[in-house]
Amino acid sequence: MKVKKAVIPAAGLGTRMLPVTKTVPKEMLPMVDRPVLQYIVQEAVAAGIEDILIITNRGKDVMEDYFDYAPELEDKLMQAGKDDLIELVHKPANLANIFFVRQKQTLGLGHAIYQARRFVGNEPFAVLLGDDIIRAKTPVTKQLIAAAEKYHASAVGVQQVSDEAIHRYSSVAVSPLEERVFSVSDMNEKPTIEEKFSNYAILGRYVLMPEVFEILANQKPGYGGEIQLTDALETLCHREDMVAVDFEGRRYDTGNLCGFLEATLDMALDHPETGAWLKAYMKDKVSKF
Ligand code: UTP
Repeated sequence: MKVKKAVIPAAGLGTRMLPVTKTVPKEMLPMVDRPVLQYIVQEAVAAGIEDILIITNRGKDVMEDYFDYAPELEDKLMQAGKDDLIELVHKPANLANIFFVRQKQTLGLGHAIYQARRFVGNEPFAVLLGDDIIRAKTPVTKQLIAAAEKYHASAVGVQQVSDEAIHRYSSVAVSPLEERVFSVSDMNEKPTIEEKFSNYAILGRYVLMPEVFEILANQKPGYGGEIQLTDALETLCHREDMVAVDFEGRRYDTGNLCGFLEATLDMALDHPETGAWLKAYMKDKVSKF
């Protein structure tokens, strides 16, 4: 089993990041010097993915433009002899074969993934949420693919979250298979503390078997009136093997203001052009608190 395709749902309305997301997709917000979406695409590519489908929505054409050439800009840079900048501008277009499809109604993550059925066909595929950046030594998608291939199963990326936080995530019922890998027997979306199966929460990365599409085809709206991917995965894990990988890496939800700022600061601290400056700036700020 080889995983060669990835789907990046990026059609959400981004209401937690208003007002900027009224006109700028949250996936295109700058993470220091490049948009959030570029990190997600780069993770997929680093995991060996060749074909990527981005699920978009009205008003998000700027995502397509970003992963295309920009001849006018490149000509100008060429005339100015700025070869390093030309390379930077070119890079996103050459990362992978990137396809786009629109989710015509924003009916939920499960509905967004269903739009990928023709692109995916009958193969296992990776899913990377368009607003979740995960920094890891081994790309998390690669960690998941390894487990999915080993167990011939779907795989979900999980980490433990606190009791106070579990109601914001999907909780999974797990039993251990090996270090950091569990078998999944059940899950639920946004549980109360009483309803949770465990504190292991699904965090933005999946490798799924194509059978999920048959389930999504008839999936009824769930939590929040949305067609939830978790509800379809609950059915899937009852029908066939699924594993959870307690992945190594730091995950940032850039779809909310604090997560976005945490990611920005951490990235800027590690960036060669801004790191030293930001450290000095923050030290000075903190000394005056
Ligand atoms: P989120 O719940 O984080 O995205 O969905 P959202 O709906 O944009 O967020 P808020 O709550 O309004 O701020 C997780 C992922 O699923 C995508 C989002 O773009 C995000 O990457 N999504 C969500 C879709 O593609 N379509 C949908 O109908 C819903």
